[in-house]
Amino acid sequence: MRLDRFICECCKTTRSETKKTIKQGRVKVNGLVMHDGSFKVDPMSDVIAMDGQELSYEAFSYYVFHKPHGCVCANQDNLHKTVFSYVPMNARGDLFTVGRLDKDTEGLLLITNDGVFSHNLLSPKKHVAKTYFAIWDHPATEEDVIAFKEGLDIGDEKPTKSAKLSYDECDPTHVTITISEGRFHQVKRMTQAVGKEVCYLKRLSMGKFTLDDTLAPGEYRSFTEREMNYVTEYKGGHF
Ligand code: URA
Repeated sequence: MRLDRFICECCKTTRSETKKTIKQGRVKVNGLVMHDGSFKVDPMSDVIAMDGQELSYEAFSYYVFHKPHGCVCANQDNLHKTVFSYVPMNARGDLFTVGRLDKDTEGLLLITNDGVFSHNLLSPKKHVAKTYFAIWDHPATEEDVIAFKEGLDIGDEKPTKSAKLSYDECDPTHVTITISEGRFHQVKRMTQAVGKEVCYLKRLSMGKFTLDDTLAPGEYRSFTEREMNYVTEYKGGHF
């Protein structure tokens, strides 16, 4: 990657600040002053220092994104906005979403470039719980709660694993669903299996990660310290 991009990312400086810093001869690459911002560096192997201080490049990035309705979980799409229309791609261009949400689903989406973390959250063997709020076209019933608990035939080889369905007593079309699998269109297909349709769908949580009220649709933020501890837990397999 370019030296100036590296400095911008590492030091969170603007492009013009970075340009000035490099011009002033304050940046060294492998011990030599470098005046050319376009010089290509390898963040993993080159030693890059500013004002005599070695800069360490964060290996991994982690973001919580509140996915809005209408954007797709793809790196590129000619027709629709993608997640990366909202969350700027990092310099290495290696960010991806941890799983996918449908175009019309809103809510919690994690974005990272840490493959192990993502794998551990998505692996069917880990049974990480995902909770959704949905609005159905017809009220949920106690029979639906039991059917979700027992597992549903949604046309796959195997019925779904036990899922938790609860509903608002005042408005039973407002439901909360927790699943521990990640099948294609799973919530919509489970809903159809009990004779209803999903009119609105929002993911509230994935494992220990929850969507907080501070993020409006389309906004994102880096993981907090607490969430970084969760990363360690998930990567260590202790969950
Ligand atoms: N289940 C669905 O049907 N759609 C989603 O986007 C997520 C879960």
